[in-house]
Amino acid sequence: MNKAEQFIQERLKARADSGSLRKLSKLHLPVDFCSNDYLGFSRSAVLKDRIENILLQIPNLSIGSGGSRLLSGNHVFTEETESLIAGFHQAASGLIFNSGYDANVGLISSLAQRGDTIISDELIHASLIDGARLSHASRYTFKHNDIAALEAKLKLATGNIYVLVESVYSMDGDLAPLTAINACCNRYGANLIVDEAHALGIFGKHGKGRIQELGLEVFARVVTFGKALGCHGAIVLGSPALREYLINFARSFIYTTAAPLHTIVCIHAAYQLLTETDHTPIITERIKQYTLTMELAGITHKSSESSIQTILYNSAAEAKFAAESLQQKGLDVRPILSPTVPKGSERLRICLHTYNTNEEIQILTSQLALLKQHE
Ligand SMILES: Cc1ncc(COP(=O)(O)O)c(C=O)c1O
Repeated sequence: MNKAEQFIQERLKARADSGSLRKLSKLHLPVDFCSNDYLGFSRSAVLKDRIENILLQIPNLSIGSGGSRLLSGNHVFTEETESLIAGFHQAASGLIFNSGYDANVGLISSLAQRGDTIISDELIHASLIDGARLSHASRYTFKHNDIAALEAKLKLATGNIYVLVESVYSMDGDLAPLTAINACCNRYGANLIVDEAHALGIFGKHGKGRIQELGLEVFARVVTFGKALGCHGAIVLGSPALREYLINFARSFIYTTAAPLHTIVCIHAAYQLLTETDHTPIITERIKQYTLTMELAGITHKSSESSIQTILYNSAAEAKFAAESLQQKGLDVRPILSPTVPKGSERLRICLHTYNTNEEIQILTSQLALLKQHE
């Protein structure tokens, strides 16, 4: 075995020994408490019809985009979609990226320069962390959702300052105190960047997100389309100058083939659906129903106001056992293990959807109650 192969085997063995070896799963169970398809858009017949109708109206539709946005991959429909989304979110402009990962990496790595400072909540998503790592700026983290800790780091900052937070945290489902964070950033002239991946479709009227719900103005927002929108891709919302800057400097935008027009049509149609129908009361009702049922069953859990709910365990083995027991009952619940979350805080991540029935929620909570009895 050569040295590289040996290295690979050793790393994999260490993962397997700690019970945290990641595996691709083909599991598809009838009751979905796992996907990020919070509003059921990815399975919506209404949305499918709309997409087909729009596609029929586009002359000479090609399968692939044929190149990057800066070469043959741009299309008038893509720019119209960017304007539609920016309008929906009351932003001056927006630039679509191929994924939320690309958007965060491109935005952060291109903006922050040597001598600048990036300050991020300790629980931000890997894509924001990777963007910060690729920049040459000084980097600090602050204790999760702690304004005093953020302020302490702001006092150390130099150059242009970028503060990175999520409006809804992806692994805990809890909310950032955005109003206080924004005020703190303003006091120090820092630029706030908010990832709204898990807020779109859930918070604010018509699911416009938490920034609009709270009536805030921030330097930039990242909104992803792979969660409540049921599609794929993301947009960075900000000033027209920021859009132009990203077109010129964001490497994950420049050096990649543009998404096919079919994907852009899906995003466009999904935004039309969000505009026409307010799904937030339905998802809010499901979240309330889950919280109430869990409380009635006396199950200790980390309650949240978002679609993401968690039940913490002390080890990967416990979380895996709980998930497998639920899966045997047809409930698609997955464990989230270290290193995605810190060791000792392995968990079940339960996602609630508009299409989860009260009966499904009842079955889930009674199974969880049974598991707790046997702990
Ligand atoms: C908070 C957050 N930001 C960004 C991303 C990345 O988005 P995408 O899946 O579109 O790459 C995710 C998805 O896992 C996320 O949870």
